[in-house]
Amino acid sequence: MTEKRYAVAVDGPSGAGKSTLAKAAAKELRITYVDTGAIYRVIGVAARRRGIEPTDAAAVTALLPELAVGLAHIADGLQRMYLNGEDVTDEIRLPEISMYASAVSALAPVRAYLLDMQRRFARERSVIMDGRDIGTVVLPDADVKIFLTADAAERARRRWLELEQRGTPKPYDAVLAELKERDWQDEHRDISPLVRAEGAVLLDTTGLDFAQSCALLLKTIREKVGL
Ligand code: DC
Repeated sequence: MTEKRYAVAVDGPSGAGKSTLAKAAAKELRITYVDTGAIYRVIGVAARRRGIEPTDAAAVTALLPELAVGLAHIADGLQRMYLNGEDVTDEIRLPEISMYASAVSALAPVRAYLLDMQRRFARERSVIMDGRDIGTVVLPDADVKIFLTADAAERARRRWLELEQRGTPKPYDAVLAELKERDWQDEHRDISPLVRAEGAVLLDTTGLDFAQSCALLLKTIREKVGL
């Protein structure tokens, strides 16, 4: 019997827990998790290395033909990212890359350049893909669409904790301010702004712990796909 192929789109603001939850759901469902934010982060790294302002549309666009963005899944569903063959998986997580990624992601040529790559992935296998425009633009026909969110204060608290644990602490107020700025930037850009897709199930994880959020996400997916 051939296995049913399906696609799950998970969108939402930063710090809502999308990647952690989608990764866990992918493992449970034995499908591929694709973190699309990581792809934008690679472009952000490239711009930063060249000393290019990420809001400079002409300069970033001119850079694109020189970039080969690679994505590979290794054991345990871990997604590694490559820039012209170099492994930049750790570098894309540097806190300063977040704003670079958010700024370059507002540029139409960057989004167009990365669209095919994302769609190709979903054509070839069952996926759970997270980002900002997966349900609206990348996979508008996804079998399941989820809009995952939580209060800004709660998301900032989680990010603050994550930075502490990673050994790169930052004051809570600074984390909250940056998160709100990034929300605003992602929600107000002209192309593919972060919005809840039509038909997307709203999952608010404020007040839910990881296990509860994960159970809710899996239940929603299984119901929608008919697993
Ligand atoms: O999910 P993340 O924080 O790693 O994403 C980094 C930035 O990339 C985020 O600020 C918005 C952008 N992004 C996007 O515009 N579209 C996506 N599908 C994923 C991320």
